[in-house]
Amino acid sequence: MRLPRSVRDADVAGKVVLVRADLNVPLDGGKVADDTRIRASLPTLRLLLDRDAEEVRVCSHLGRPKGYDEDYAMAPVAARVAELVADDRVRVLENTRFNPGETKNDEAFARELADGCDLYVDDAFGSAHRAHSSTEAVARLLPAYAGLLLLDELEHLGRLLGDVERPFVLISGGSKVDDKLGVLQNLGGRADTVLIGGKMAEQLRVENPLDFEVELPSDVVGAAEFAADAEFGVYAVEDLPDGWLGLDIGPETRNRFAAKLADARTIFWNGPMGVFEWPRFAAGTAAVAQAVAANRQAFSVVGGADSVRALNEAELADQVSWVSTGGGASLELLEGKELPGVAVIPS
Ligand code: 3PG
Repeated sequence: MRLPRSVRDADVAGKVVLVRADLNVPLDGGKVADDTRIRASLPTLRLLLDRDAEEVRVCSHLGRPKGYDEDYAMAPVAARVAELVADDRVRVLENTRFNPGETKNDEAFARELADGCDLYVDDAFGSAHRAHSSTEAVARLLPAYAGLLLLDELEHLGRLLGDVERPFVLISGGSKVDDKLGVLQNLGGRADTVLIGGKMAEQLRVENPLDFEVELPSDVVGAAEFAADAEFGVYAVEDLPDGWLGLDIGPETRNRFAAKLADARTIFWNGPMGVFEWPRFAAGTAAVAQAVAANRQAFSVVGGADSVRALNEAELADQVSWVSTGGGASLELLEGKELPGVAVIPS
């Protein structure tokens, strides 16, 4: 995979640097609820400060506001950045999506962002699949470089697209089946084993549009209705009572999937095995998190907000080789698509 040129090779001393980070983090009660993406952006900010940049202007989108919306103001994010990097050369700009030009990749808005800046560093891997003013158009107006997180993501995820150590086990789940079919098709065809849980398994059981075999759950935790406190029990898939829903993989499937993961040398996990937000349907996803983390000989990559959340809840994020900060961006990259925010940066 072609890698864009690195911020390490930029001469930043005395310069005003515009950094596009992905600071699109969850908020709760006006505070940052999970600062993972903010912390992931720090190495690039610190590098720029250590190398005597005069000013570091950080821009990002936050949520999906259509124009100005005070609920999506960057103030809580800026406050968290200031706590983590106490340096008055760092300034967090207002939400890029408050400008209607942003999502249209409007050049006039890109000019506003670039105004007064000497160079541009894109560190927003999570937004690299968007051709927006702050990720694409602006990179044509200033000398553009890739930040450390963006490069790390490309290197780790890119390994999955190259010659991997085998067995290569792909495990996928969740409900957004259509979003993931492209990745499954591109990556799954090269995997030795493809394990599928979650709602995706139900769909693939009815019709498998992929041109390879996948392993589906043999048992499930069934629920009488779609509710956190639903009546529930473990059933072989063919014995699930009429009208009941499979909301997690069952113990036999967990063991079978864990055994495959234990033998793997390369693992990519994207998507939960069930409705893991509800404790009685969380065990399957937790078992996968444990099994992925327990395999210390494998190169293991976890992507997608839900799988990452499950891994964090189990306090296992530091036990895997790479946790991606990108949802849609990691899927598009692994589908084999070119990411506009990467393509625009010279090598
Ligand atoms: C994400 O959370 O996946 C990125 O920040 C991109 O956000 P978007 O889907 O609103 O463009």
